[in-house]
Amino acid sequence: MRGLYTTTAIATAAMMTMSGAALADDVEVLHWWTSGGEAAALNVLKEDLQTQGIGWLDMPVAGGGGEGAMTVLRARVTAGDAPTAVQMLGFDILDWAAEGALGNLDSVAAAEGWDAVVPAALQNFAKYDGHWVSAPVNVHSTNWVWANKAILDELGLAQPKTWEEFVAALQAAKDAGYTALAHGGQPWQDATVFDSIVIGAGGPEFYKRAFIDLDPAALNSPEMVEAFTRMETLRGFVDDNFSGRDWNLASAMVINKEAAFQIMGDWAKGEFLRAEKVPGTDFLCFRVPGSEGSVTFNADQFAMFKVSEGAVASQEAMASAIMSPDFQIAFNTVKGSVPARTDVPGDQFDACGQQGIAELAAAAEGGTLLGSMAHGHANPAAVKNAIYDVVTAHFNGEYDATAAAEELANAVASAQ
Ligand code: GAL
Repeated sequence: MRGLYTTTAIATAAMMTMSGAALADDVEVLHWWTSGGEAAALNVLKEDLQTQGIGWLDMPVAGGGGEGAMTVLRARVTAGDAPTAVQMLGFDILDWAAEGALGNLDSVAAAEGWDAVVPAALQNFAKYDGHWVSAPVNVHSTNWVWANKAILDELGLAQPKTWEEFVAALQAAKDAGYTALAHGGQPWQDATVFDSIVIGAGGPEFYKRAFIDLDPAALNSPEMVEAFTRMETLRGFVDDNFSGRDWNLASAMVINKEAAFQIMGDWAKGEFLRAEKVPGTDFLCFRVPGSEGSVTFNADQFAMFKVSEGAVASQEAMASAIMSPDFQIAFNTVKGSVPARTDVPGDQFDACGQQGIAELAAAAEGGTLLGSMAHGHANPAAVKNAIYDVVTAHFNGEYDATAAAEELANAVASAQ
């Protein structure tokens, strides 16, 4: 083994001497796209860059929602070794920009007219102080249910339209011996479910007051108690082994007809597609009952760190590749998300994707496009993590619904 490493090291050193320029142009990309569907989407990006002669140094850090990736990033930046490009969400981008760590994509953004085609809700996070600091690759949303159609057909269940119908369908699936709700007990997954449940319990204005305005009177309110009560109802429908399960394994339970439903962002669709499942035939996608009309969005962006001059050209080329309409279609049809531009035709998207595109536009128009709390688009990381703690502690029985609402208001107040 030692011999092999030595040979590799010598070969690498020789390559660096021979083609230093090519190596300097590689982009090192820190991301958390490690599930099957996510890796397939990431490959679309890697291959696109490869055709443009941009090399890829992969830096994956597993963990949905990106908490692990953000911890690794902090360590890398502290060590003076920032990656070239980093998958990042919402407020994290603004936090890094405020620290002065991010580069500037203004010239490529101006040349390609990003201002006119990137939705305003995304520009709020892609620009800092009027300057472009990141390139948005997609728009996901979290308030979706993924259902196994064969189970619904077998039990004679129609797609539930109200919270009560959803609970009745979960009960029917449980009675028939299925896991009713496939879930992974990890704080970010509990919080992902909570996004939809809070809208269902209080409506979009209430969600906004609670999670975006951080109004203490909304955080500790009858509506929030109702949201926690609904979480308790859902808790009654997960299986005994839910704790710690990765989200894609929960998706696999629905794909494999072990479980009827999963509440998860539309990255779950990437897993169904990779398993060659067809929307409408094998699985159903619909908004979490009670949350229809609202879209809790999160957009993955590639934030560009301050790097040496040679790497800036690669960052700009990468950003340009990401923003190309063709790439947005090729990537997002695999990832489960929808394009981060308003001018991309939706005809190559499947039924769930077309629904997502139409609902994103309608929500933006109607004022019900809301940043996902669970995925860093409602409030900064310190507040988000405080909310995670309470939601997870409650889900695991530490508080009743009334105490949880009180704790939520307290936790958010001390995190600010
Ligand atoms: C989200 C991210 C998605 C998906 C998901 C699960 O935070 O925006 O792209 O990767 O985590 O890993």
